[in-house]
Amino acid sequence: MKNTTSVQDATSRGSFAGRLGFVLAAAGSAVGLGNLWKFPYLTYRHGGGSEGSGAGAFVLIYLAAVLLIGAPVMLAEIFLGKKTGLNPVGAFRSLRPKGGWKFVGGLGVATGFVLLSYYSIVAGWTVQYVIYAVTGALSGDADTSGSLFTGFLASPSRQIGFHAAFMGMTIAVIVGGVSKGIERWTKMLMPVLLGILAVLTVRSLTLPGGSRALTFLFYPDFSAINRGLVLEAVGQAFFSLSLGMGAIITYGSYMKREERIGPAAVSVVLLDTLVALMASIIVFGSIFSFNLSMDSGGIGNLFTTIPVIFSKIPAGALLLIMFYLLIMFAALTSTVSLLETVSAYFIDELGMNRKKAAALSGGAIFALGIPSALSFNLMADATLGGRTFFDWMDYFCANISLPLGGLGVALFVGWALTQREVEGELGSEVLTKAWRFSLRYLAPVAILAVTLGMLFGGVDA
Ligand code: TRP
Repeated sequence: MKNTTSVQDATSRGSFAGRLGFVLAAAGSAVGLGNLWKFPYLTYRHGGGSEGSGAGAFVLIYLAAVLLIGAPVMLAEIFLGKKTGLNPVGAFRSLRPKGGWKFVGGLGVATGFVLLSYYSIVAGWTVQYVIYAVTGALSGDADTSGSLFTGFLASPSRQIGFHAAFMGMTIAVIVGGVSKGIERWTKMLMPVLLGILAVLTVRSLTLPGGSRALTFLFYPDFSAINRGLVLEAVGQAFFSLSLGMGAIITYGSYMKREERIGPAAVSVVLLDTLVALMASIIVFGSIFSFNLSMDSGGIGNLFTTIPVIFSKIPAGALLLIMFYLLIMFAALTSTVSLLETVSAYFIDELGMNRKKAAALSGGAIFALGIPSALSFNLMADATLGGRTFFDWMDYFCANISLPLGGLGVALFVGWALTQREVEGELGSEVLTKAWRFSLRYLAPVAILAVTLGMLFGGVDA
């Protein structure tokens, strides 16, 4: 079943307007808190906070996972969306009605639901930090910026309030529709975000001691590699690239016929990786240069280090406002892709209209997020195996659900579909062969090895 763009336009689904519509929206989805907040947080954790330990190994394995697993699965998701013009569940069902494949799509929609519930908490932090930046509450003093963050986390009402605000913003964009809402914002803001990140990267590397960030991030200590590190690197690749839950399938379904999937996938993967690396260089450049201590286990890195480095830049106070605004928008284009996937399911499968689908699913996701918001205060001590509710949601989604969803996509396109069905999309026989090879063997074996290792070997390390 092949929907043309005009058919989509005639329905309530909508499609992208511009030639680059898909790339922009997919990049908007991929580039988000995963790159700016979580990647620097994970590298910090695996690095043990000091030079020369596990961060380099983590980054190396992450890059390998992006290239060998992420890129092929990205192609596969775009392919499924573009070919079927449907939401994740419909996409699987329309190609193979039998065999339970649609549950891969169903798992994806459910994962999006859960993922957004806690993602929105951290996204809410960005709103608070925009306000802090505007009111001049952020100072270049490391201790002050640290205690400001800790104090903010400790307030249940503010955690829930900003979570609510962010879900409200996300619902508003979804109601506005795919083309106008998502495409336009990303097109304007992505270049500005890249520009500011580039300036900060240079500044951070030229600070005294700042270049130690490069040793920290890129010098691999192979003895630091263990099961937990590999699992988190693979999970982070899926999380950062927005793979494994059908968000890219959904965006692919709005793609124009003439947009090509190969270059689209490459651009999104490169851009996403570049942003993650720049964000980490900035964060660690300032940590090393100013000898910052990271009390909150690294979870606040993005929020506590950035004000310090901006204080060392001309017009820093103004740029700081812009920077947190951009992070907020980067988070918004990501939450939008999550809610869009869940809503597209309600629209296509249950026949709801866009407004109702967005409001209903958004409201339920907000409610599910409340325990995550409380994980930093009232429920901070309610831990299981050392993890709070928030930690568990994240751990489960990123390291289990997304990789399993990605596995389903890889097996589907690699094995369930015939050679003829996938031919021709990449425009090169060699590339198609390499792609199929990864989907059939490389990606499934790698994903199974890490997730099964985790399930049977325990969740720690
Ligand atoms: N990739 C986004 C980020 O890095 C988060 C995200 C948006 C996501 N949509 C997704 C993650 C779909 C997994 C699946 O911040």
